[in-house]
Amino acid sequence: MLILYFSHSGNTRNVAEQIHGRVGGDMIELKTVVPYPRDYNAVVEQAQREQQNDARPQIAAEIPNIEKYHTIFIGFPNWWGTIPMPFFTLLEKYDVGSRTVIPFCTHEGSRFGRSEQDLKRLCPRARLLEGFEVRGSRAGGAQGNVDAWLRKTGLLTG
Ligand SMILES: Cc1cc2nc3c(=O)[nH]c(=O)nc-3n(C[C@H](O)[C@H](O)[C@H](O)COP(=O)(O)O)c2cc1C
Repeated sequence: MLILYFSHSGNTRNVAEQIHGRVGGDMIELKTVVPYPRDYNAVVEQAQREQQNDARPQIAAEIPNIEKYHTIFIGFPNWWGTIPMPFFTLLEKYDVGSRTVIPFCTHEGSRFGRSEQDLKRLCPRARLLEGFEVRGSRAGGAQGNVDAWLRKTGLLTG
């Protein structure tokens, strides 16, 4: 399995680590060549601009042998209603084919927003499983809900 995630302020990373602690596999953090500003207003503005321009920010992550994974978790913060644009760059660069794709998302109220539709467009042949969403502020205490979701999807037994 591969857990692929993007996180600007750490919430999604926290959930990624909780999933990894249960299912193992490889974990890769998606980063951009030019890091996003730490300042909240600056990153909010930049992310909005990128979405309006349908930008494809250059990514720094490499995924050696994506073909070796049968299941790929894709974790992200909801940015302006959907997946941050670097994931568009990545999913157009790497073809996940007909693999199982499982989204997880942190947010401040919009839950998955449009991200599941966008994922379907970006991974048209993938088998998309039911995802997991949690408010960013509750990410630290999400392990119980993460476990329940993993059990429901059949990825965690016992
Ligand atoms: C650029 C930007 C845009 C955001 N847009 C939304 C949004 O549309 N809906 C929402 O519920 N939360 C939104 N948020 C809040 C984040 O999704 C939330 O804080 C998330 O947990 C951050 O995850 P991270 O710590 O992994 O970066 C936005 C945050 C940022 C920085």
